[in-house]
Amino acid sequence: MEWIKHILSQNALWTLKHFLLCIFLQINSCSSDDLSQRAQNLMESHPLIDGHNDLALQLRRIYKNRLSEINLRTINTTRTNLNKLKTGHVGAQFWSAYVLCSAQDKDAVRLALEQVDVIKRMCKEYEELEFVTSSQGIENTTKIACLIGLEGGHIIDSSLAALRMFYELGARYMTLTHMCNTPWAKTSGGSLHKFYQGRKSLTDFGNEVIKEMNRIGMIIDLSHTSSNTSREVLAISKAPVIFSHSAAFALCGIERNVPDDILLSIKKNRGLVMVNFHTGFVACRKTANISTLADHFDYIKKLAGSESIGIGGDYDGVTGFPEGLEDVSKYPLLIQELLRRGWQDQEIKGVLRENFLRVFRHVERVRDEQLNLRPSEIEIPEDELSYSCRLDLRTFQHLRGKSSGIQERSIPAFTLAIYILSCIYVF
Ligand SMILES: *[C@@H]1O[C@H](CO)[C@@H](O)[C@H](O)[C@H]1NC(C)=O
Ligand SMILES: *[C@@H]1O[C@H](CO)[C@@H](O)[C@H](O)[C@H]1NC(C)=O
Ligand SMILES: *[C@@H]1O[C@H](CO)[C@@H](O)[C@H](O)[C@H]1NC(C)=O
Ligand SMILES: *[C@@H]1O[C@H](CO)[C@@H](O)[C@H](O)[C@H]1NC(C)=O
Ligand SMILES: [Zn+2]
Repeated sequence: MEWIKHILSQNALWTLKHFLLCIFLQINSCSSDDLSQRAQNLMESHPLIDGHNDLALQLRRIYKNRLSEINLRTINTTRTNLNKLKTGHVGAQFWSAYVLCSAQDKDAVRLALEQVDVIKRMCKEYEELEFVTSSQGIENTTKIACLIGLEGGHIIDSSLAALRMFYELGARYMTLTHMCNTPWAKTSGGSLHKFYQGRKSLTDFGNEVIKEMNRIGMIIDLSHTSSNTSREVLAISKAPVIFSHSAAFALCGIERNVPDDILLSIKKNRGLVMVNFHTGFVACRKTANISTLADHFDYIKKLAGSESIGIGGDYDGVTGFPEGLEDVSKYPLLIQELLRRGWQDQEIKGVLRENFLRVFRHVERVRDEQLNLRPSEIEIPEDELSYSCRLDLRTFQHLRGKSSGIQERSIPAFTLAIYILSCIYVF
């Protein structure tokens, strides 16, 4: 029994403990290094397509869109810069052309054009970026692909012609509402803004907007839209739809997030919820951690499958982000956490990139199947608008003495009197 005594001696015990500790540390550090390395490798082969970034809003707010005064590679007054995007393995970014609701029925169209302009200038001036407008464009480029999302249906001023022209400028999704109702759809934003308070959900003209978006290949974005409006859109859209930056209602019960029945409809629609990182949406609090955010990924996966999930960080659009995810260089830490939770490589490749590409290709296919349809010439009924500054084209055309296709209406007596008087004066 001499050998047992020997083993039990202090020295031998210490050696054994030391040995076990070493194995433990080895495995531990090895596995965390391993996860980090796996996340890096996955993101290198499958760079992230992010659904929503508000850098352009900050460019307007802080710099009046004067790109000449800043260096986007290193800018540090924002959570986004080009160096950080590279560290974060971002391969494609939807830049939000966002316009304040307060501009509705005023100069929303001009303000949106200026945001589209600053995004396009930015993507042209920096060799790290490339402006693209198709799924193939994202796949082809070796740079960071730039795409445009219009944030707020008020941007098209209830005009399908304006919608089509924004598409021609390169916009590839439109968020149906921001935090205000439009004349044709209802927001989840409550009554913060007083526009069109009577709207219950999608109107007939709203239906026409959805049809036209399907026809031209503009992705429908339901973030910010009221749940009932989202349900109606899901019932009629011929193409998959997205939530470009929203989280799960079950984990943080605000209408800005997606409720369970809509998650199930998204699965059926083959659409996508691109998960928002904002602490206010993820935790319903000012603070959160990566784990709180990852819970949303687990939850949506359980209900709708990993194929229904993407990422829409909302950087530079909101203030609070989970600890460890403060800027756009930090995405790999989220991927590492999902790996730690047992997500398969294939599921993560979907979340990073392939799910969005599937949706985009499908939207393009629905467009291509409708090439025989003519552009819609439907106009919103006038009594559904509450404009004070819109030119009344009928009066205008009467005064010019032109006949028009627009239905003629009797000229108010006062206008007629002015007209006759001015004629008398001139002649
Ligand atoms: C931000 O950038 C400015 C100028 O480029 C630099 O002077 C400053 O030290 C930077 N701040 C931080 C916190 O890195
Ligand atoms: C993508 O690359 C292919 C092959 O080089 C080319 O034929 C195609 O035009 C490219 N498409 C886009 C949108 O970049
Ligand atoms: C949503 O629609 C349902 C069914 O039509 C209705 O009962 C409910 O009141 C609506 N919710 C809101 C907030 O309008
Ligand atoms: C993350 O936050 C949750 C909720 O506050 C907390 O229970 C959990 O311990 C935190 N996790 C980590 C890893 O810090
Ligand atoms: Zn938003």
